[in-house]
Amino acid sequence: LLPNPKHIAIIMDGNGRWAESRGLPRLEGHRRGADAVRTIVRHCRKLGVSALTLYAFSEQNWSRPHTEVFGLMKLLRRFVQTEWDEIMDNGIRLVTIGHTERLPRFVRAPLDSLARASVANQDMILCLALSYGAREEIVDAAKRVAADVLAGRLLPQQIDEQTFGSALQSSVIPWEPDLLVRTSGELRLSNFLLWQAAYTELYFSEKLWPDFEAADLDAAIESYRRRDRRFGAVPGGHREELGGGAEALTERERVQAC
Ligand code: FPP
Repeated sequence: LLPNPKHIAIIMDGNGRWAESRGLPRLEGHRRGADAVRTIVRHCRKLGVSALTLYAFSEQNWSRPHTEVFGLMKLLRRFVQTEWDEIMDNGIRLVTIGHTERLPRFVRAPLDSLARASVANQDMILCLALSYGAREEIVDAAKRVAADVLAGRLLPQQIDEQTFGSALQSSVIPWEPDLLVRTSGELRLSNFLLWQAAYTELYFSEKLWPDFEAADLDAAIESYRRRDRRFGAVPGGHREELGGGAEALTERERVQAC
């Protein structure tokens, strides 16, 4: 079995459907979604997960109705206020990725304060992706690298995955996600961590985010731990020892090797 994932990323999807199926306003779904955030952050901390990245608001979410956007912003501010003490008491460092300068001041200010206050906390990183888009993050990194080249600090031939990766905003987290969970049965990445998820194990849950509980995260981790991560290498990392070429591979290994 694999060890527990160090870095878990979650696309928290299905708040709207959760509410609509109950005849409630969409914002009620987000409110219950914020409760699920609390539960899952606590659970990750308890499990000793090193980093948790949550897709809380995408760059594309700005196009939602104003009342929904405003309601989400108020929920974010409330989250910072109500979770402040618990985050500090549990050694959690809050970081954000995304175009957070687009967030209204009443959210940005408390977020920045908590990020500053928690900067030395070392037990877990809680990363909120806010006004985030992976393509935007990659384009921003390309601009930074191009500026370095233009200023003579870097030669084009020195650009490699390492230098490019460290120009990404999310490089504050030293580990790529091991496990990415998406709730609500949708099978897409939706512009989330496209660079970082190159070798991430994916897990899709049918549950809508407000219904997602600690036991559901346990099931995702359990599924992850049973997988064989090869990072493009051969099964188990010892192809020769299998002997007998393709015939000696199990059906699962044959499928995985394709
Ligand atoms: C997707 O559901 C969810 C979001 C766009 C927002 C996620 C926000 C929260 C969970 C609450 C606030 C966050 C924090 C960190 C306190 P959807 O509205 O797209 O659902 P649908 O696909 O069913 O319409």
